Amino acid sequence: MRLSKYLARMGVASRRKSEEIIAAGRVKVNGQTIVEQGVKIAPGNDRIEVDEQIINEVEKVYILLYKPRGYISSVYDPQGRATVIDLLQDVKKRVYPVGRLDFDTEGLLILSNDGDFANLMMHPRYEMKKKYEAWVKGNVKASELHSLEKGILLDDGMTSPAIVRILGKNNARTLVEIEIHEGRKRQVKRMCAAIGHPVLSLKRTAISFLSLEDLQAGEYRYLNIDEIKKLRQIAESAPNIS
Ligand code: URA
Repeated sequence: MRLSKYLARMGVASRRKSEEIIAAGRVKVNGQTIVEQGVKIAPGNDRIEVDEQIINEVEKVYILLYKPRGYISSVYDPQGRATVIDLLQDVKKRVYPVGRLDFDTEGLLILSNDGDFANLMMHPRYEMKKKYEAWVKGNVKASELHSLEKGILLDDGMTSPAIVRILGKNNARTLVEIEIHEGRKRQVKRMCAAIGHPVLSLKRTAISFLSLEDLQAGEYRYLNIDEIKKLRQIAESAPNIS
């Protein structure tokens, strides 16, 4: 629907007057000021503001995706690689990844169009737990994992204590489970490299109480209201919040 028509329908002003309001730079669509006429919007999908006042509510959606390897965790890739959004063909809302997984990492990724929720899930002060399974090179000894448990010095500072255990071994590889609540760039890979055991493959298996249960790589499901409420409660009860 044309933006001016939508503004008129929402009672902002007449169609003619709405066109003037747009030309005056008083209207934003999804945070971007629009001055040209004829722009089309999707009611319920695009957030419209007039003079910084939101005039419609966009339905919030929360998606749990099993990200396969070989996808970028962003909405758009300038290099033209497939993004996680390409996996959400049936999702009509504009969602974006809450946090990120590397191109070659698979596993649990949340996507949403709720900025406040995204901040709760991503900001380090809320300490949301994330669990990873990493196949690493070499035969890891339990003693080598202690430094990861205590915290290890990376080039951007000490890591917070982690919960770490060995899940299995095979040929010259070890499967390690690592639980952290930080979300620094390539953190698990850098932690494992720092103890001399580079990551061969990485999978995020959980965020807080959410797991990949019943999903295959590339599949997704919507989070339900109870799950969303519980995630908010967990984040808001983090020890660093006053
Ligand atoms: N740590 C990493 O090294 N990579 C990821 O994708 C996620 C956590």
